[in-house]
Amino acid sequence: MPMDVLVGLQWGDEGKGKIVDYLSQDADIVARWGGGANAGHTVYLDGKKHVMHLLPSGLLQGKMCVLGAGMVIDPEQLLKEIDGFAAQGIDVSPGRIMISSLAHIVLPTHRALDGAHEGGRGKVPIGTTKRGIGPTYADRARRRGLRAVMMKDPVKFGQQVRQLMSEHLDELRRFGIEPNLNFHAGWHKHEEYANRLAPYIKDTSVYLSNCLLAGANILAEGAQGTLLDVDYGTYPYVTSSSTIASSAALGLGLDSRCIRKVIGVAKCFQTRVGEGPMPTELPFDSVVAKHLRSEGKPGEEKGATTGRPRRVGWLDLPLLRYAARINGLDELVLTKLDVLSGLEFVRTCESYKYNGEEIFDLQGEVITNLKDCVPQYQDSLGWPAYDIVCGKELKEVRGNAGSYIQRVERAIGMPVSLVSVGVDRNDVIKSKGNWFLF
Ligand code: GDP
Ligand code: IMO
Ligand code: MG
Repeated sequence: MPMDVLVGLQWGDEGKGKIVDYLSQDADIVARWGGGANAGHTVYLDGKKHVMHLLPSGLLQGKMCVLGAGMVIDPEQLLKEIDGFAAQGIDVSPGRIMISSLAHIVLPTHRALDGAHEGGRGKVPIGTTKRGIGPTYADRARRRGLRAVMMKDPVKFGQQVRQLMSEHLDELRRFGIEPNLNFHAGWHKHEEYANRLAPYIKDTSVYLSNCLLAGANILAEGAQGTLLDVDYGTYPYVTSSSTIASSAALGLGLDSRCIRKVIGVAKCFQTRVGEGPMPTELPFDSVVAKHLRSEGKPGEEKGATTGRPRRVGWLDLPLLRYAARINGLDELVLTKLDVLSGLEFVRTCESYKYNGEEIFDLQGEVITNLKDCVPQYQDSLGWPAYDIVCGKELKEVRGNAGSYIQRVERAIGMPVSLVSVGVDRNDVIKSKGNWFLF
């Protein structure tokens, strides 16, 4: 009964979409278990960029795609995505995509409330994606949310949407906001969305359990990243869902013993979009920051969901060790090694100075007080682009680029199984067992 779980190890945008697309060649089913359209997973295929917000990144490999119970689904966004892929001749029928009947539904008023709550935080916003994620999970916890199963009766669903939207409008008015929403058209549209989405809604827990019993390979696709986890991330600057590996079985309705392997994806540096501490952050306009953002190039560090330029910094090994522990990592995948090429030197944060002590592992209150941690760096020599060879015949990482990977392996105590060196599906170099040899 094998399910592999892929998680982001940093603050999201580690390149999960690209790696899921690559790994799903060997999977039968790709399943998202949490988050919503706050995610933006990029897959380049034959030079064309595709961004998936709700649909799993196995879609372009022709795999069965499941949207699990732990997700919050915006029907308008999902239909936009479905229609966009259908227009490109990709099969997006209910035979290819399933939505858990237990997933929660994001309404336009959830999005408006997200904006209002951010405004209400004044000078200390979270920097959310304003996709209505927090308010939808809050409604789930308040036990007044709408579940996908309700769409099976579109007329009744329309009434339920109308009721919840009117409660939301009252809340928005308390913020002094009269949203520019055509309320009647707003809820009526949901009847139409329900009509279209009803055939996709299934008991995906039963479906996935049966597939596992029959020997299928499932790849669970994480969204966001470990440091955005609502419990184990840099709270309060986090998302509102669980993003770590142990939440995959929960979000998909599976026996937690079905997890075979946990694969973590990390960039060779650090990025963050939105607010919150980031110890290794570089000044936004510095030469190295611009280099790491790859401005104007494919793979540019710009939010795939909001278009915001990402904050960038050097690779933070204490945080990576923390993420490896909290996820129970089996394998590490590093992305964007190519982006570091051409720098004179590369830095890694080896430890922090915190309260006068040098610390290597995050314990106790440190994750909560990350802003008070001072990174202790080690510099190593950079490498030219030709140290990374990724042709059809020959794929290797040489010289200082190879040593960099080896240093990360040593620091984390984990093998690096794959290194991604470009945006395309084939820009991936598999480990030959020991990077030290390169
Ligand atoms: P995700 O949310 O984790 O799926 O990551 P995003 O898609 O939001 O952001 C990752 C960005 O990096 C995308 O633009 C990818 O196309 C790009 N990318 C992924 N891997 C690599 C790589 O190895 N090299 C380069 N240059 N770009 C990459
Ligand atoms: P993927 O799956 C990067 C960040 C937001 C904000 C915080 C809370 O593409 O890696 P939310 O809208 O979830 O309430 O915002 O979390 N955030 C992400 N950052 N990648 C993501 O997803 C993110 N999803 C949420 O920027 O700081
Ligand atoms: Mg992303």
